[in-house]
Amino acid sequence: MVRGVRIAGVGSYAPDRILSNEDLARLVDTNDEWITTRTGMKRRHIAAADQATSDLAIEAGRRALARAGLSVGDIDAFVVATVTPDYPFPATACLVANGLGAPGKPAFDISIACSGFVYGLTVASGLVRSGVFSRVMLIGAESLSKITNYRDRSTCVLFGDGAGAVILEASERNCFLGSSLGADGSNPEVLFQPAGGSRYPASAQTVENSRHYIHMAGKEVFKFAVSKMVDSSLTALAEANLTPDDMAYLIPHQANLRIIDSATKYLKVDPEKVVVNIQEYGNTSSASIPLALAELDAGGKLKQDDVVVFVAFGGGLSWGAVAWRWSA
Ligand code: ACO
Repeated sequence: MVRGVRIAGVGSYAPDRILSNEDLARLVDTNDEWITTRTGMKRRHIAAADQATSDLAIEAGRRALARAGLSVGDIDAFVVATVTPDYPFPATACLVANGLGAPGKPAFDISIACSGFVYGLTVASGLVRSGVFSRVMLIGAESLSKITNYRDRSTCVLFGDGAGAVILEASERNCFLGSSLGADGSNPEVLFQPAGGSRYPASAQTVENSRHYIHMAGKEVFKFAVSKMVDSSLTALAEANLTPDDMAYLIPHQANLRIIDSATKYLKVDPEKVVVNIQEYGNTSSASIPLALAELDAGGKLKQDDVVVFVAFGGGLSWGAVAWRWSA
């Protein structure tokens, strides 16, 4: 059985605590001017010491349920995209389902770094379209501040925390228009958290050498990001015989304003159609796209039948785009 899928509701949550460029300049040798011109970032939201990723995800999930006018009992399965799970295992989605009041329902995580939301949207839409589930809650949620080294100026200015949730439900109209995903694991060290897994188990030495934090070769990531964002957006649109001209909105992963601007230029999209909130949240990995979608939705900007493209890239390296038709 192949049926349609739509987004029934969107919700987001970001912690209250703000870390500004000025705050960062007090921690490392940096300044507002450098951060603003190189990244577009001004502030990030930072989880409290006792707030884990599931706490952010649960709040975003509650808001999505309220927006959809549904209760948690209406959800058949929970998927969380994250690289900052509460624990290496169990899956954070298990904690989220329980925290929302749905123990016993299927729940699993997707771990593909900043591409998590577009991968998750493809997988969860497939589960709904194939009839396995009627409603799936997909949440991109991250507490990147917990794995950020606030002594490394090349990474600590970039990351923030937050969560965004969508509820996917079976529908007569199909809103999933196309998807293009990819990954290349030939050089994982370009962007990774070296220690704490089975390659370099956590030890006093890995902590001493700061190997439990995010490590990134920023320039390498930058180089591949623009071309992959452009190619995957075009391919996802082409699956539905569409072009960038048909797009009402492009919602890119918020990693760097210069990357977003370059992709906008290559795709020849009107910058007015490109959703940017990087100044407020920084890079929140798999949460960045649903956070931006929730803002767009809350602002009443999405109209029936608008074509929206979600596009991301990140650790793996990985990348992907989904073309979506909005149905209110
Ligand atoms: N403040 C001031 N100076 C800095 C800072 C800082 N915070 N960070 C680096 N610099 C310095 C460098 O030391 C270097 O100085 P030098 O020329 O004396 O050696 C200079 O600024 C230029 O550094 P670059 O690394 O060349 O700067 P670049 O223009 O490439 O910008 C950045 C760096 C912002 C990291 C960029 O490369 C980038 O955004 N890359 C992509 C990152 C990304 O998208 N990551 C996705 C991760 S998401 C995930 O999967 C969790």
